[in-house]
Parts: sequence; C-alpha cells; structure tokens
Amino acid sequence: MNRLIDGKKISAAVVEQLALDTREFIATSGVTPGLAVVLVGEDPASQVYVRNKVKQATAAGFNSTEHRLSADTTQADLNALVEQLNNDPSVHGILVQLPLPAQLSEPDIIRLIAPHKDVDGFHPLNVGALASGGADLIPCTPMGCMIMLEQTLGDLSGKHAVVVGRSNIVGKPMAALLLQANCTVTIVHSRTQDIEAICREADILVAAVGRPEMIKGSWVKPGATVIDVGINAVEKEGKRRLVGDVDFSEAVDVAGAISPVPGGVGPMTIACLMKNTLTAARQQMS
Ligand code: GUN
Repeated sequence: MNRLIDGKKISAAVVEQLALDTREFIATSGVTPGLAVVLVGEDPASQVYVRNKVKQATAAGFNSTEHRLSADTTQADLNALVEQLNNDPSVHGILVQLPLPAQLSEPDIIRLIAPHKDVDGFHPLNVGALASGGADLIPCTPMGCMIMLEQTLGDLSGKHAVVVGRSNIVGKPMAALLLQANCTVTIVHSRTQDIEAICREADILVAAVGRPEMIKGSWVKPGATVIDVGINAVEKEGKRRLVGDVDFSEAVDVAGAISPVPGGVGPMTIACLMKNTLTAARQQMS
C-alpha cells in the first residue's frame, strides 16, 4: 500500500504546537521572537519563498521584518545590514535568502551572521555542531525531512538511507541527521558511478539535486520511503508546473510512502524555520 506523506498536514501540526509554545514564551519572557529576512535582487522563486516565510512568521506570533536590497547591492552594503541585525536585540533570527547575485560572496555573508541568530544553521560553527551531534540550529529543510521520516517510519535505526545530492543546504546536513538517527548513510552525486543501483538499495531515499523527475520508478526499491526535496518549474503540455526530483507518477507505484511536490517538503521547511526562530529567541533570553 502506498502512502502519501502529507507535508501540509504534518507542517500544520508543527506550526500549531509552535504557536502555543510561542504564546507561552512571550507570556513568560515578555519578549516577542523577531525574525529578519533579507532578500537581495528580484529572483521570482526567492520572492515567493521570502513572502511565505514572513507571512508564516507573522501568523506564528513573531515580529517579522523583510529587508529588500537591489540586485546591484555591494558586499559592503549587505555586510552593514547584517551587522545592524546582529546588533539589534529585537531580532533573534536572521535569514539571508540564497542564492545571492554573483557579485556577493555567500560564504562571507554566512560567516558574518551571528551564529546564535543563524536560523538557517549555515554558519560554520553550527555546521560543526551538527556534525558532532550537538546542534541547536539545524538547517530547516533537512529538519523538515527528518520529521516527515520519523512520522512515517518511527525509529530509523539500521535503515539504509541514500541521499541524492551533496549541497550545503540539504544533502550534507541531511546525511548528518540520518547518521545521528542511526541510519547507514550513502551520499550519491553527479560523479557517482551507477547511481541507480545505489538508489535501489535504499530503504530511505532523499532526493535533493534540483533536476526535474531525474529519479525514475525503476530506481526505487519496492516499499522504500521516498522524500522529494526538489522544486523545479517546468513547462508541461504548455503549462508551467512544479515537479520534484522524483518522477512521482512512476515512483508512487513502487514506494511504500512518498512525499509529493508541491505539498511535501516545502511547507515543512518554513515550519522548521519558525522552530529555529523560537529556539534562537529562547537561547538569547536565557
Ligand atoms: N534558498 C533555498 N533554500 C534556502 C534556505 O533554506 N535558506 C536560505 N537562506 N536560502 C535558501
């Protein structure tokens, strides 16, 4: 029997609990968690993501501010904004939406964000904490995938998890979290030989490559749990549609459970950003 892993439903439960926790935090500390989201340039997908992040943060009871900078912003201007947010006690979480325009350095800006306000979990200090198993601020998309997997499978111990993709945002932190949950973890990437055969061994298959419908039904072990992180805009029959990295129409007949696109990982990412913002606010008040 195939099961759909419903990210909308699971994220709604996470957000509902978070709103309760936030209300309690505000009542006991007198402080409202503050999230600052920075968007540089006009990338249409980033604009949608940022709008949703700010909207959800406000709905969760946070103070949320959006900082928009033009596409030709200099590193000095962006640095100055991040430093101002680092020093603002009403801001507990800072998120600079990626990718940045070519003239700006992503590693430099990630390093500049105060680690305790880094709600993306991308700062090297937080990456190191995750690798050694003691992180508080965990990258939002992998955290969302773990919640989906644990709700679907319960204990993940001993399962063979294959992560397709090795990005800093998803693939690498995803592998670290699966390892922490006692999975046997394989990362495959563009240089891996015979990706298909390795994917077919997976009890848990996490696809995070950004290639529309790359993973076919024949790559999936019967009964496996498939998490599709990809969000790819494609033209299909003359219409613009969003598809994942997994060929859903094929994989749905083979997998034991599968997350759809849209309505899978996407809403979980934002819910986990809210969790990180509350965690950051708690830590800064304690
Ligand atoms: N761009 C795509 N995903 C993310 C994310 O999780 N955080 C940030 N800051 N930018 C992104």
